[in-house]
Amino acid sequence: MGRANKVVLAYSGGVDTSVCIPYLQNEWGVKEIITLAADLGQGDELGPIQEKALRCGAVESLVEDAQEEFIKDFAFPSIRANALYENRYPLSTALARPLIAKLLVDAAEKYGADAVAHGCTAKGNDQVRFDLGIAALNPNIKVLAPAREWGMTREETIAYGERFGIESPVKKSSPYSIDRNLLGRSIEAGILEDPMTEPPEEIFDFTKSIADTPDEPEYVEIDFEKGTPVGLNGKILGPIELITELNTLAGKHGYGRIDMIENRVVGIKSREIYEAPALLVLIHAHRDLESLTLTGDVTQYKRGIEETYTRMIYQGLWYSPLKEALDGFIDKTQENVSGTVRIKFFKGNSTIVGRRSDNSIYAPDLATYGADDKFDHKAAEGFIYIWGLPTKVWSQKTRNK
Ligand code: ARG
Repeated sequence: MGRANKVVLAYSGGVDTSVCIPYLQNEWGVKEIITLAADLGQGDELGPIQEKALRCGAVESLVEDAQEEFIKDFAFPSIRANALYENRYPLSTALARPLIAKLLVDAAEKYGADAVAHGCTAKGNDQVRFDLGIAALNPNIKVLAPAREWGMTREETIAYGERFGIESPVKKSSPYSIDRNLLGRSIEAGILEDPMTEPPEEIFDFTKSIADTPDEPEYVEIDFEKGTPVGLNGKILGPIELITELNTLAGKHGYGRIDMIENRVVGIKSREIYEAPALLVLIHAHRDLESLTLTGDVTQYKRGIEETYTRMIYQGLWYSPLKEALDGFIDKTQENVSGTVRIKFFKGNSTIVGRRSDNSIYAPDLATYGADDKFDHKAAEGFIYIWGLPTKVWSQKTRNK
């Protein structure tokens, strides 16, 4: 008896996921393997990937274009939550995993597979996101993670593949581990493992080096509807176009890079470089529009919700009762978050320089220092008397002995 009969394997076309095919068949006794490649805008040609899977021994090779769903149902909710893991990482890789888990489970159900498989190793976050996502969506489906158990080095993996006709990588493979989709790129390993080593320019692709950015600033206005970005410069755009255009614009000005040491789910600290220009701009712009349209108490309370929400996405709990409940809270807060935020890009910076909304609760006649001031100045003294009363009593008792 093998570990499973029929398996849907998350497939990228790389050596590791390719080797998973003969490995699952020969070492773990799997009879049929269907591969699934999700197109999330990673820029790979998926046609050749499909053929490659069949050459490696898959009985069927699926390619799913999930780009629109990725932005609409995963990136946009995260923007509404201003989600920045450890205050910096906008989850560009993490957000793709629950979607891929869903595609795997859907395919397994459709093709009657008893397991799904992925090529994650034991040290990363993605294994957690896949395993928990799959379990939440269908707890009866087994998850197989051969690369977590096989214990082969890179060379041994390549040699294993060659025994089954899997060609070793033609190009000298990159010294980095790179994950890419429409939202951005995550780059780690190689010389980047030394936290003191500056990231070399050649690792970047979405963002220009400051030395190559325009000498003139450029402005963009981002339109939001109920917390969701819907257009740029007054032009309504679909989710994919909006992200793509904003990536180009912000990236051209060298904005969108992050260099951080982050805390992984498995307890390891890792040094990761990100570039996610559009997503970062959108989160900052969205948060700014909230400051114009939400009351102070909602804004401040939401910060705590956002923190939890962000950690849950990072830690693989996208599909969970608490996350769903928090979605309910966040969606409710977004009813009035519509309007426009004006951004200036220049030399690696994205500066918010203006905002407006029909739902603005900024009251000029209360804020102004000018003549048409409507604030009741006399009320301040009484307010402070009562507000400060406990402090005054405490001070008299403790300091005035
Ligand atoms: N650390 C990021 C995350 O957990 C990215 C993981 C993938 N990174 C990579 N370079 N392959 O979401």
